[in-house]
Amino acid sequence: MIRIYGLCKRYSTADGDIIALDNVSLHINQGDFAAIIGRSGSGKTTLLNMIAGLDVPDRGSIMFDGMDIAKLSAERTAILRRREIGVIYQFYNLIPELTVKENIFLPSELDGRETDPEKLTEILNTVGLGGRENAYPGTLSGGEQQRVAIARALFGGPSLILADEPTGNLDGENSAEVIGLLRSLNEKQGVTVLMVTHNEEIARGAGRLITIAHGKITGDIRNV
Ligand SMILES: Nc1ncnc2c1ncn2[C@@H]1O[C@H](COP(=O)(O)OP(=O)(O)O)[C@@H](O)[C@H]1O
Ligand SMILES: [Mg+2]
Repeated sequence: MIRIYGLCKRYSTADGDIIALDNVSLHINQGDFAAIIGRSGSGKTTLLNMIAGLDVPDRGSIMFDGMDIAKLSAERTAILRRREIGVIYQFYNLIPELTVKENIFLPSELDGRETDPEKLTEILNTVGLGGRENAYPGTLSGGEQQRVAIARALFGGPSLILADEPTGNLDGENSAEVIGLLRSLNEKQGVTVLMVTHNEEIARGAGRLITIAHGKITGDIRNV
């Protein structure tokens, strides 16, 4: 589904150059439920952001559906994120002034697409937030906010979900719920999931475990 070849990224800082990604090649297969682990600063977010088209590599390609994401304009990658690639962050990135419903509809509205209220109901039920469409994010718990963020990612009908430490701000119980939800989307709806996590237990539970260190892939194990 995603074929990454020779991805390199260097950042110039006041303290000199930092090699964030060092010749990374990786295939993500349709149906994967994969976790990426690695120390802070190892390049996990950089890698995910490049797949999402939020950052551009110095070298290498990211083939998806016959396109190279690394070569698309910002406008095209924005469309890709509204339709094909759902992105979930540690701090939810919901808009506090908008209700749950408005947050979920926003990407489709920006895309000039119809927002179907029945689909909203269905997705809110899927994430366990039926009846909460008019709540504001600030009135929800962290776990609930993350489930709104997942609902927003799902509303566009993505084939791939990228999640950057989606449980990084949650307690054990809420983490388990969010991971359980991602897993069920993977198993029941066939959504491919690639998530960065610090949590070893979550990582061990993933179907595939990718390890990254100093910008290089150092391990890639499939759990059966
Ligand atoms: N915009 C940036 N400017 C300068 N350095 C950056 C930038 N983004 C990331 N880095 C550096 O690149 C390395 C990898 O960062 P990152 O991908 O965020 O790591 P991780 O998500 O694994 O913690 C780190 O050393 C980080 O400081
Ligand atoms: Mg990170």
